[in-house]
Amino acid sequence: MALKFMTADEAAALVNNGDICGMGGFTPAGAPKDVPTAIAKRAEAAHAEGKPFKIGMYTGASTGDSCDGALARAHAIQFRTPYQGNKDLRTELNAQSAHYFDMHLSELAQDIRYGFLPKPDFAIIEACDVVEKGDMVEIVPTAGVGNMLTFCELAPKIIIELNAAMPATMRGLHDLYEPADPPQRREIPVYKPSDRIGTDCITVPASKVVAVVHTNRPNEVGKFTPLDETTQQIGNNVAAFLEAEMKAGRIPASFLPIQSGVGNVANAVLGALGENKHIPAFEMYTEVIQDSVVGLMKEGRIKFASGCSLTIGADKLQDIIDHMDFFKDKIVLRPQEISNNPELARRMGLITINTALEADIFGNINSTHVCGTKMMNGIGGSGDFTRNAYISIYTTPSTAKGGCISAFVPMVSHLDHSEHSVKIIITEHGIADLRGKSPIQRAHEIINNCVDPAYRPMLNEYLEMSKTAQTPHTLSCALAMHEEFLKSGDMRNTKWENYKR
Ligand code: COA
Repeated sequence: MALKFMTADEAAALVNNGDICGMGGFTPAGAPKDVPTAIAKRAEAAHAEGKPFKIGMYTGASTGDSCDGALARAHAIQFRTPYQGNKDLRTELNAQSAHYFDMHLSELAQDIRYGFLPKPDFAIIEACDVVEKGDMVEIVPTAGVGNMLTFCELAPKIIIELNAAMPATMRGLHDLYEPADPPQRREIPVYKPSDRIGTDCITVPASKVVAVVHTNRPNEVGKFTPLDETTQQIGNNVAAFLEAEMKAGRIPASFLPIQSGVGNVANAVLGALGENKHIPAFEMYTEVIQDSVVGLMKEGRIKFASGCSLTIGADKLQDIIDHMDFFKDKIVLRPQEISNNPELARRMGLITINTALEADIFGNINSTHVCGTKMMNGIGGSGDFTRNAYISIYTTPSTAKGGCISAFVPMVSHLDHSEHSVKIIITEHGIADLRGKSPIQRAHEIINNCVDPAYRPMLNEYLEMSKTAQTPHTLSCALAMHEEFLKSGDMRNTKWENYKR
């Protein structure tokens, strides 16, 4: 059966208002590009004629600007899950123009299979190779996997972007496996990060492939902000903490696999870990493989990395492509249902390091909402990992916006990870070890070690003002620092007496 090659515009014409599209890839890595942009153009044309045009959109995580950005600017998204990171989409969903539900990344595939969420009408995916085998087609993913295995299985129609910038030699980087659903599910047989349990391609009936579109596009992964003194110091503190844990015998001398989160801070932390020669060369079992991993792998500091995507700049990806013989037995890319699987995180004993937007003095974490209302990105995989970690660590700079925002407040304005799951918090000032401590002990540990000195007196006053209780709060003041920021633009202006009722 001959594959149907066509342009992105012709493929986009197959997608109709109200259709649900499952976009492949994870972060901009491996996300489709030309077809989503063409769908956005279609939506703009329909809107110009006064006709409705919006699609429902499942993804792996964030995507690139030619997908999330283009569709958001065209007001073409009806609903969106499970994670995003695009400026224009952020504006769209905070305006409630697109309905966004923020999900644990490991759960989306099974929630669709279970029937909790509707099945996609289309899988729109990027491939580096498409091989016809009789009535079947083998699809080889590129730099990110995400949920594409499940989307291809459940969607009746598949559109493939065959990206010439991603060579067919990428075959072998992936390990594609989908667990059975309860009550048939057995253990997922991954016992160490390098275990392979699945296939190196996705095999689908050729009849489902409704379009193949030739593209030639690099990954749209952005550059990281260069390290500054704060991020470097956070990284050093994480490395010092892990070194001490190892010396105390609480982490085995052979070390444990690292999971490291997304963003600038996470990238810096990993760099610092790699530089600390007291920490042995380690393995990663993580979600996104970020820029710093590539260099550390070449230096022998990272022995193996299992992830869901190579979320790295185009130059770093080219380096891997050019040296595939070196990297192929050191990297594996899996579906996010496996890279982020709670069963595997607990079994392998992952040291998880994620970034908080805000924490409270009792150790609860907000990863997602600015001042409790505006969505930043989403919970991503942080919950999959934090709740099931061997040691869960949160890092954050102690302040944001030039010191006007304290990352530590009396009560988080939105809760993503509770005090029951969070073991360690680290800032540029130091380390708060929350293990075995009551809420008031935690508060002293966090204020003394992590909070910026400018905010310590204020938070100590809050504790003194609040009545004795298991978790001491003065409810009328619990969100006063946020209110003060919204009013005067600087949390340092907070005076408790102005808020206390
Ligand atoms: N209130 C308001 N804004 C805040 C803030 C707070 N308490 N703390 C930070 N910010 C702002 C920063 O000023 C910065 O703004 P800018 O983009 O305008 O400069 C922005 O948030 C990002 O902060 P930065 O310090 O650069 O952090 P980052 O790039 O490391 O990202 C998160 C931090 C929390 C947004 C990011 O890690 C995230 O989305 N996490 C949730 C998902 C997750 O953990 N995934 C990992 C699982 S594998």
